Amino acid sequence: MGFGLTSRRAFLGAAGGAGAATASGWPALAAADEAPPPLARPTTAPELAARDEAYWARVAAHYRVSKHFTNLEAGYWGMMAAPVLAEFQRHTERVNLESSFYARRSAGADFSAVRTRVAAALGARVDEIALTRGATESLQLLIAGYNRLRPGDVVMYADLDYPAMQDAMDWLQERRGVRLARLTIPEPASRENVLAAYEQAMDAHPGLRLLLLTHVNNKTGLVAPVREIVASARRRGADVIVDAAHGFGQLDVTIADLGADFVGFNLHKWIGAPIGVGVMYVRDGRLSDLDRAFADRSMPADSILSRVHTGTTNFATLLTVPAALDFHTAVGPAHKAARLRFLRDRWVGPVRGRSGIDVLTPDEPGSVGAITSFRLRGGTTKAENQQVVDSLLSHYGLFSTWRTGLDRGDCVRITPALYNTPADADRLAAALLELAAG
Ligand SMILES: Cc1ncc(COP(=O)(O)O)c(C=O)c1O
Repeated sequence: MGFGLTSRRAFLGAAGGAGAATASGWPALAAADEAPPPLARPTTAPELAARDEAYWARVAAHYRVSKHFTNLEAGYWGMMAAPVLAEFQRHTERVNLESSFYARRSAGADFSAVRTRVAAALGARVDEIALTRGATESLQLLIAGYNRLRPGDVVMYADLDYPAMQDAMDWLQERRGVRLARLTIPEPASRENVLAAYEQAMDAHPGLRLLLLTHVNNKTGLVAPVREIVASARRRGADVIVDAAHGFGQLDVTIADLGADFVGFNLHKWIGAPIGVGVMYVRDGRLSDLDRAFADRSMPADSILSRVHTGTTNFATLLTVPAALDFHTAVGPAHKAARLRFLRDRWVGPVRGRSGIDVLTPDEPGSVGAITSFRLRGGTTKAENQQVVDSLLSHYGLFSTWRTGLDRGDCVRITPALYNTPADADRLAAALLELAAG
């Protein structure tokens, strides 16, 4: 949305004083007055530490959240922790101060250092990754650039894959002359039946050469058995592009855990970097299977950097990535994943199997992280699910979202974050039981 000058002035004016209304209708937040307490991560195992409320209260104190609603929609993007936001502000000021002097004289070396840091965090070689503006850019470049397809080959995706990636896969029909195959993820999903669904679909399409596979599903939170599916596709001579937009940071994973040759990530969801930063991963030895980005000649053909050409980017966003990784590491990737799972289980436990509530996401270890979706009283339409989201917000102050595009119908998605508490999850469970009883 673009603001005209007049409306921007009106917006700034309204948000100026403490307690004044912002464009969203909520009073502006008061300035932060205290530095957050030191983290001091517990030495206990992650599953035990997940219940250490004193520790998680210290972690939560690093986030300034609105008091006017409870955010259970962290799946869109991840709020920056206060120290990360402070770094972003500092970098924004410095870059703005130095302007092109910064861009011409310092940005190159700074970006290289950030790239090295990100590669280490992912467990990848630095020459296997390129920084992008997000998962969309990474995945579109991988899908469009993959050059091993021949007319008549089959490419495949599932109903639960991300819409923009489905569009890019559809486009391969025109671009590469391929045939498209589509599978439906079973409901209720389990590790076993998801694996079986992919096996069956791959068996039915011996011409399969490229599969799009979502690691942590954005609609239901289902975690796909990526390693196994990638290995099975490889045995059949097919490559897999993994959409890991929700994987890194929500789960304690590295590139090696996925076993894939082509992966797209972002760092602005579960790593908590500023919006506008992602990663494209291409395994060593596979670069020639990807075209240069738009015939880019600014980088050598044997560098992954020739497969991405973003243009002028938000320098401060990239410069803030190390601070986001520092915070992520300080909280502890395994502890964070366990805490998110604990908060998710806390609301799912009391509602699972209750009349009028269908939880779509399995409980089995390895098949779920923070995100879980449900339907109320069998409602599969957009209107019914929007209604649930609206009721949760207006009657209970709980903010969630609905998801569409599942073959079996729409649903409501819940995504807790590190600033949520067990009490938030309890309020949600109680609200759902009340709404289901109607
Ligand atoms: C599964 C999935 N893939 C891709 C994306 C796009 O990510 P980005 O915002 O980094 O472009 C999202 C964003 O919600 C997603 O959930």
